[in-house]
Amino acid sequence: MDIAEPLQLPCGATLPNRLAKAAMTEGLADTTGLPTPELVRLYDLWARGGAGMLLSGNIQVDADHLERPGNVIIDRDLTAAERALFEEWTAVGRANDTHFWAQISHAGRQTMTAINPQPKAPSAVKLDLPGGQFGEPVALEAEEIADIIARFVRAARICKEVGFTGIQIHAAHGYLVSQFLSPRTNRRSDEWGGSLENRARLLTEIVRRSREAVGGDYPIAAKLNSADFQKGGFAFEDSLRVVGWLEELGVDLIEISGGTYEQPKLLGIEGTEPADDPDIAKSTAAREAYFVDFAHVMKEAAKVPLMVTGGFRSRAAMEQALAEDAADVIGLARPLCVQTDGPARLIEGASGLPRFEDWLSLLPGVLKFLTKIKMVRTLAGFATQYWFYGQIYALGRHGAPRPGLSVFKAWRQVEATHKDWLERRRA
Ligand SMILES: Cc1cc2nc3c(=O)[nH]c(=O)nc-3n(C[C@H](O)[C@H](O)[C@H](O)COP(=O)(O)O)c2cc1C
Repeated sequence: MDIAEPLQLPCGATLPNRLAKAAMTEGLADTTGLPTPELVRLYDLWARGGAGMLLSGNIQVDADHLERPGNVIIDRDLTAAERALFEEWTAVGRANDTHFWAQISHAGRQTMTAINPQPKAPSAVKLDLPGGQFGEPVALEAEEIADIIARFVRAARICKEVGFTGIQIHAAHGYLVSQFLSPRTNRRSDEWGGSLENRARLLTEIVRRSREAVGGDYPIAAKLNSADFQKGGFAFEDSLRVVGWLEELGVDLIEISGGTYEQPKLLGIEGTEPADDPDIAKSTAAREAYFVDFAHVMKEAAKVPLMVTGGFRSRAAMEQALAEDAADVIGLARPLCVQTDGPARLIEGASGLPRFEDWLSLLPGVLKFLTKIKMVRTLAGFATQYWFYGQIYALGRHGAPRPGLSVFKAWRQVEATHKDWLERRRA
């Protein structure tokens, strides 16, 4: 199937083609979470880049639970002036009939210590990562869970009002909704824990009530892990069942990814502990499109359109996934941090996108070879991710990427930018 073919979603909206820019945290909002001129410049580039749909980076529903400094935040009703900033941002992102969807999230225990040393989570289960970057989580009270649902629904309503053409609930990658889904991180014995149905209740309630808030003709999506790839975690069979429930709730698009901070399979990186199934781990890491096998099985079980994200670089692999009915939309992230018009090039006939992660992965690869020290490997994983943050800063600040940036410089730049943001927020 042709990557340029439009896709009509169950709600009636049409995506102009099959390529989407997947969500990437920008770190460019001001200290109250409002859009800035840098965010406008960044999305102006991406909206001119040929993707049929752009997903925003994760927009947080609680200022005390950011995934990093500089997240966009919608945790309150906006004033007219604040709305105007969002409207300016979404107008740019919608240029050229591009869909611009908001990814709505809550970081839960994956909130950085510098933001909140005691973040709320389903249960008090700390991230198993060295370095003190993440604090001691505190289990949520039932009333607080009700408040979080209301926050997601309010953010969904506001996103529609300020001009996003769809929303996506972030239920992947170990953030709060994903923490509820996993029995490793959700040890609750009330209606929010235990059975899969209970663990999925936060997600299904957010989706059900968001639908009431935005109406039947507005795209609602969810980003879901195909699996967490951790022993006793959210498994593929669980994911299949959740896909079925989301379909019943009238979700328009499910984006399939996988992994968490502890097991960053979303980036094709080995985690700090052995995966639950070494064969699956090997087959997903070795191939170009990390989650396409899972999506294939999901497509057989459900009719809801699927977006598959992770590792796609060659047009042949994208076309194959579409033709074999393993995906309806291809999600692209890292290459677009440098080649912002990658989708347009593919549609015009280019054979593929650049693979920056190959040489960047040399760093954790070498360190892994040289040392078994978990701390060093963890830091190396974050450092390669920071190189992409550095590219996004460059696009937003100067309108052009900096592919010559070293991993070390990118690390220092991100640390300095985070520190500056935190100091300004405190002042
Ligand atoms: C710099 C960067 C920021 C990211 N931020 C987010 C995010 O905010 N929300 C999300 O769901 N995924 C996020 N991701 C994951 C991507 O959406 C995507 O799943 C992952 O990069 C794999 O796709 P790729 O191989 O095309 O890069 C991020 C990835 C990168 C590299």
